[in-house]
Amino acid sequence: MEIIHTIAELRDHLAAFRHPAVVPTMGNLHAGHLALVRQAKPLGDVTVSTIFVNRLQFAPHEDFDTYPRTLDADCEQLQAAGCDVVFAPKETEMYPHPQSFKVHPPTELADILEGHFRPGFFIGVCTVVLKLLSLTQARTALFGKKDYQQLMVIRNMVKQFAMPIDIVGGETQRSDDGLALSSRNGYLSEAERAQAVQLSTTLKTVAKALRAESSLDAANINRLESHAMQTLSNAGWRPDYVAVRRQADLQMPHTGDALVVLAAARLGATRLIDNLEV
Ligand code: PAF
Repeated sequence: MEIIHTIAELRDHLAAFRHPAVVPTMGNLHAGHLALVRQAKPLGDVTVSTIFVNRLQFAPHEDFDTYPRTLDADCEQLQAAGCDVVFAPKETEMYPHPQSFKVHPPTELADILEGHFRPGFFIGVCTVVLKLLSLTQARTALFGKKDYQQLMVIRNMVKQFAMPIDIVGGETQRSDDGLALSSRNGYLSEAERAQAVQLSTTLKTVAKALRAESSLDAANINRLESHAMQTLSNAGWRPDYVAVRRQADLQMPHTGDALVVLAAARLGATRLIDNLEV
């Protein structure tokens, strides 16, 4: 496995390949990332993982400085998963000048849910992903479905810029108790970790209730969302949202739409997100 830090070296190395399959990450890898790498293997002629903690997608009060940087351990795991190339640029390599050209995704998709609570987040994500896909000349790129809205925003960006790239979603990987794997789970104390399963349990409860509804209207969706938020609050969480949306575009659903329930909530100082397709 090649570990590459500069754009020049990356271009040089990838020139020999026609179909890079790329898994962009911010490092501190877990089994969810490694599943994406294994999923990528048959989809290209070279499997590339990028590791870059992207300052542009963090608000000033967020965890950019403390986000774990674990390059050596990440590379060991990537090698074991069959990755061929790791691109781990320094910040000065990715952003030698302030990144003044940015991708602004449409508000109806990017200013709701995560984008509402993390203003500018998807501008940062789209900007770095566009740059990483261009640098790696990706023909396939894989993103986890745990970041459901991110996957949708990226899919739409690639489509609208007519980039010849297949965007593939990877299923959310979960611990035995149901907690969605996330790099941020490492911030949880032992007591919080034991409690963290409540987020996925709440989603399952909403999903079950939705399956039992014969018709959907704003009132019964609202009732289910509020009840779920209250359950989390009662258990000591600070929920940002529990939202029932349609899978196609994350807008309010109508009867018959395929649904997804999405949630974001803080447990102590840690903000976790999760979702469940219904
Ligand atoms: O999901 C992530 O890890 C990041 O948002 C991504 C897609 C690598 C962009 O920095």
